[in-house]
Amino acid sequence: MAIFEIFFSLFLFAIIPSIAQVDATFSKSMYITWGAQHASLQGDDLQLVLNKTSGSAAQTKIPFLFGTIESRIKLVPNNSAGTVTAYYLSSTGNQHDEIDFEFLGNISGQPYTIHTNVYTQGNGSKEQQFHLWFDPSTDFHNYTIHWNPTQIVWYIDSIPIRVFRNYENEGIAYPNKQGMKVYTSLWNADDWATRGGLVKTDWSNAPFTAKFNHFRARACKWNGVVSISQCSSNVAANWWTSPTYKQLGYARLGQMNWVRKNYMIYDYCGDTKRFNGKMPMECFKAQF
Ligand SMILES: *[C@@H]1O[C@H](CO)[C@@H](O)[C@H](O)[C@H]1NC(C)=O
Ligand SMILES: *[C@@H]1O[C@H](CO)[C@@H](O)[C@H](O)[C@H]1NC(C)=O
Ligand SMILES: *[C@@H]1O[C@H](CO)[C@@H](O)[C@H](O)[C@H]1NC(C)=O
Ligand SMILES: *[C@@H]1O[C@H](CO)[C@@H](O)[C@H](O)[C@H]1NC(C)=O
Ligand SMILES: *[C@@H]1O[C@H](CO)[C@@H](O)[C@H](O)[C@H]1NC(C)=O
Repeated sequence: MAIFEIFFSLFLFAIIPSIAQVDATFSKSMYITWGAQHASLQGDDLQLVLNKTSGSAAQTKIPFLFGTIESRIKLVPNNSAGTVTAYYLSSTGNQHDEIDFEFLGNISGQPYTIHTNVYTQGNGSKEQQFHLWFDPSTDFHNYTIHWNPTQIVWYIDSIPIRVFRNYENEGIAYPNKQGMKVYTSLWNADDWATRGGLVKTDWSNAPFTAKFNHFRARACKWNGVVSISQCSSNVAANWWTSPTYKQLGYARLGQMNWVRKNYMIYDYCGDTKRFNGKMPMECFKAQF
């Protein structure tokens, strides 16, 4: 932690003029890895499609270490039960790190479940789930993962819904050593997704489509080390220097409390049965 702070305060201003802009749009930064016959990636628009034989997926060409990863998403409309749309960061290997947004579909008129999770060095089990204060299938909304050396913040339309803080010096693992690529996918998960697998996918509604646009990775490219010279100019100008770098301001905290009070439907830190009373250490630490 201290090393980052010293590093940035020494070099931030000296390096700004030569910072390379990390490529922005979907088609420049991502490629389709699954279901290329029916998915599409054009300019700033990505469309993922699921039919009975195949889902689809895309990922960024390069990994990042820290950044603000933003995309507007319009989820599968109407009867989306059994479908899962995922939008997440992940490294590779068996000690992988991961930061997740997953959208679990539902039957028409019933609420989507927003599922969040973090993996640190291969260990997940940090799920929190939410319902939304709007229908995510009628319009595009802004889903952003903000990941810096101090904290991870999940935002929906600029409202923070969750924070995971770095308590590494208290023995709690934090994702800060491995670069992560950004992944998106749409697939069938009717064995567990909707009401624990009780509601199956209705294939008469297929193909299912999730639309993404305005992908922005204001992030630092990772090639084995973190270096501010690998960060996009927006990161240097607005992000590393911003007060939210360390902690959300009061207004944002108020919004987050509102979401958590009214829309959170599952918190692993409240699931004493699951952990047999031996709660994960971060559950005893402030997460804001
Ligand atoms: C699903 O899409 C794939 C690729 O576009 C196509 O080959 C296949 O026939 C489709 N399957 C169904 C059941 O529509
Ligand atoms: C989804 O529902 C809306 C409103 O009920 C309707 O207008 C639209 O045609 C439906 N779309 C599909 C693909 O069924
Ligand atoms: C999306 O949300 C992020 C996080 O609040 C924000 O930085 C970004 O400006 C938003 N994007 C748009 C297009 O409003
Ligand atoms: C679907 O709707 C039901 C009933 O409103 C709700 O309990 C559930 O959390 C929703 N989401 C999923 C993924 O089942
Ligand atoms: C993974 O995390 C859970 C919950 O925090 C903890 O109980 C478990 O011991 C961890 N496992 C490893 C291998 O670190």
